[in-house]
Amino acid sequence: MQLTFVLSLFVFLLAPFAEAETAPAQMRALLMTGYGASDVLRVERVAVPTPASGEVRIRIHAASVNPIDWKIRSGKLQRNYSVDLPYIPGRDVAGTVDAIGAGVTRWKVGDAVFAVTSGGGLAEYVIAPADNIAAKPAKLSFEEAAGIPTASLAAWRTLITNGDIKRGQRVLIHGGAGGVGSTAVQLAHWRGAHVIATASERNHDYLKSIGADEVIDYRTTRFEDVVKDVDVVLDNVGGDTLQRSPAVLKEGGTLLTIVGMPPAQACSERKLRCPTPSTATKQKPGEELAQLGQLFDSGALQMSVEKVFPLEQAAQALDLSETGRARGKIVVRVLD
Ligand SMILES: NC(=O)c1ccc[n+]([C@@H]2O[C@H](COP(=O)([O-])OP(=O)(O)OC[C@H]3O[C@@H](n4cnc5c(N)ncnc54)[C@H](OP(=O)(O)O)[C@@H]3O)[C@@H](O)[C@H]2O)c1
Repeated sequence: MQLTFVLSLFVFLLAPFAEAETAPAQMRALLMTGYGASDVLRVERVAVPTPASGEVRIRIHAASVNPIDWKIRSGKLQRNYSVDLPYIPGRDVAGTVDAIGAGVTRWKVGDAVFAVTSGGGLAEYVIAPADNIAAKPAKLSFEEAAGIPTASLAAWRTLITNGDIKRGQRVLIHGGAGGVGSTAVQLAHWRGAHVIATASERNHDYLKSIGADEVIDYRTTRFEDVVKDVDVVLDNVGGDTLQRSPAVLKEGGTLLTIVGMPPAQACSERKLRCPTPSTATKQKPGEELAQLGQLFDSGALQMSVEKVFPLEQAAQALDLSETGRARGKIVVRVLD
């Protein structure tokens, strides 16, 4: 009996991975061959990757772009975040499970999913750890689901996991109209907070439509002239905006940022809670994505897609992200 169990386990772990019958040997992908402007990117044919143990291959329907993609391309992050060239940018994908590595039982070929990866998403196929995947929200298109992972995980981990936003708190969100900010505004509203968000004037109606109670045009108004004694600040902008933020918090308030280190002296002088930005989490990314997916399915969260590019124009999607002006998410459609 025990021998049968051990043999079955052995066969299960060593069994060749399961895959869809139609997987080709090659795929189209946006390939980065050096660092610099968008001319280091071009769509080429490369080998379709094979999932290792604990991994899943996804046939990508849509992917979304994040600032980290153009920051990697530009070479700005080379000191702290190196990638092997040639590199395929893109961390966020939605599609169907196409092949399963050994030991993966949670997913099967054909499942509609969305996932966060460490790169490779601007292509027809990508490999993701099985733990980084969640079922696609049924009410969202693949393009909308692809917009969720990196930005919404940042909003979730910062505001909910680290910030533990509560009903009745006053929250100031810098950069409310971006990929992270638009989910953050909705999460704070969903938790019952009073939401104040900054954006240029053209995004004010949008911000009110997703739950902002007050909006500030950062181009014409210094936020510290019109806001004071908030419980929480979430900074998605950094630099001078982050440095000026402690002044608007009540003593003992919370300063959250995803783009720099909180100013230590001001945090200590004003007795603020300033958790160090961290992506560390006790939950698996797939579990967090599943929670976010439920909120999108329930209608508590909505996905706003600024523009959809075909894969052939994916380099332009990174250029649009680099302008810093996108509302919500920028998406690349891979499968028509
Ligand atoms: N640490 C992490 O885990 C993590 C994760 C995701 C993102 N990030 C970082 O967080 C930042 C935001 O990411 P994102 O995806 O939200 O970027 P994004 O989508 O490119 O943000 C674009 C938005 O920023 C707004 N904006 C630009 N300058 C502003 C200012 N001075 N004040 C207020 N709003 C301003 C723009 O609004 P207007 O057009 O109205 O100006 C636009 O809607 C990036 O630096 C990104 O690299 C970090």
